[in-house]
Amino acid sequence: MTQSHEQVLIVDFGSQVTQLIARRLREMGVYCEVHPYNKVDAKFAARFAPKAIVLSGGPNSVHWADSPRADDSLFDLGVPVLGICYGQQTMCAQLGGAVSASTTREFGRAEIEIIGNSRLFAGLQPTEIVWMSHGDKVDAIPDGFTVIARSKHAPFAAIAHEAKQFYAVQFHPEVVHTPCGTKILSNFIRGIAGLSGDWTMAAFRDETIAKIRAQVGTGRVICGLSGGVDSSVVAVLLHEAIGAQLTCVYVDTGLMRAGETKQVVDLFRDHYNIPLIAVDAGDLFLGKLAGVDDPEKKRKIIGGLFIDVFEAEAGKLGGADFLAQGTLYPDVIESVSFDGGPSVTIKSHHNVGGLPARMKLRLVEPLRELFKDEVRALGRELGLPESFVGRHPFPGPGLAIRIPGEITAPAVAILQKADAIYLDEIQKAGLYDDIWQAFAVLLPVRTVGVMGDERTYEQVLALRAVTSTDGMTADYFPFAHDFLGRTATRIINEVRGINRVVYDITSKPPGTIEWE
Ligand code: XMP
Repeated sequence: MTQSHEQVLIVDFGSQVTQLIARRLREMGVYCEVHPYNKVDAKFAARFAPKAIVLSGGPNSVHWADSPRADDSLFDLGVPVLGICYGQQTMCAQLGGAVSASTTREFGRAEIEIIGNSRLFAGLQPTEIVWMSHGDKVDAIPDGFTVIARSKHAPFAAIAHEAKQFYAVQFHPEVVHTPCGTKILSNFIRGIAGLSGDWTMAAFRDETIAKIRAQVGTGRVICGLSGGVDSSVVAVLLHEAIGAQLTCVYVDTGLMRAGETKQVVDLFRDHYNIPLIAVDAGDLFLGKLAGVDDPEKKRKIIGGLFIDVFEAEAGKLGGADFLAQGTLYPDVIESVSFDGGPSVTIKSHHNVGGLPARMKLRLVEPLRELFKDEVRALGRELGLPESFVGRHPFPGPGLAIRIPGEITAPAVAILQKADAIYLDEIQKAGLYDDIWQAFAVLLPVRTVGVMGDERTYEQVLALRAVTSTDGMTADYFPFAHDFLGRTATRIINEVRGINRVVYDITSKPPGTIEWE
């Protein structure tokens, strides 16, 4: 919780899209935090001192026994409140209105008609398209409220108590399917709550550097550097803050992309002068992975070895006091489950599942308050080259999960070559920044081909490229056929061991981004 900015409190009732509210506000330069409804009471609110409050949507019905409520004290703080969907319904129920289960559920696109001149809808057209997703609906509004928009199935699509600055909408202004949504949120945040948008990366950088210095004092910090955006930004930020008290450890697992290790060492050790230990652990990793073909076993082995190598290097340094990690805000939000329920493990993503407690390291997590796009903006603020800041995500287990079946050194070498050609073609076509993630997968399948007059019997390579905003869902990237043809020809001509190339057109869901 930071107090040096104007801040907005988002009370989470468990909607799938609560994070989007936070993103929209951050995009307006406004600092906000998401907290589960049951953690927000009067004491919390007094400490947090929000300048405005947003009540999120949620899966509950206000009619269900023990369905969640906003702490009543939030309505007495004298700050503007915006209720969205379930947030509207609970606001209504709590302030004396009536909510019923609607006979017609409204889901998806709907047209609203704006009524009157509410400041919430300043600058909007008389009718607007919005995205609805609700079963319950408001039947009677609390005293002092007026209707400011209606739709065919929702006579109280939006309501307001202008004097108290309470607003509530049945639809979701935070999703892109509500084209006027950003304007509505901006009207609420800037026009009504009067926030100036004082959340800038330059200010964040200076404050965070001061905080790191205060936290670390004269202690020693180690940082696992993978060369990805998050750990790169952490390393440079920490180096600015504490200079030589920082040591970075880069583990070359032998499962990196072609040229990756050199790029990381060149930038961080040679350009930034950051003390960097680059451990060549390829033989160790490949040795322990020999004969293993189960994806989860691969992840566990790799995760365990990371920790061993890291711990050994930290030991050689003569002890460290702090471990720096690139934890991001979505990880923080997700680790505070809305209802405490378990979620299904599809893949155990976090390759470093924590260091052994005996190392007794305290954590430095300077990116805990940031979303991924903000980390990129911070990286730019810190002067990191675009080639690092704009990088596609790369999984911790690296190429190990892009070689289904057993991993061998020759298979890694083949994949590195093919992957480099694929990325080179993407760069040349100017498509790199349009794609969330692109990579090749070496399949454990041989097929027959013919090259010159020779019969070949070699492996199949699958190409994957997806668009996404957060990696949670994804669509395949619609390459032009000539791009695919050109890339396939180059790979087959230049890489011995591959004689067939296919393109993966699966979206997520039902697929996942990686093949393992
Ligand atoms: P999936 O395959 O689950 O991937 O759709 C979503 C995002 O997570 C990355 N990913 C991983 N990252 N360790 C990581 O650090 C892992 O084990 C791992 N598995 C998948 C994937 O590259 C994509 O960006």
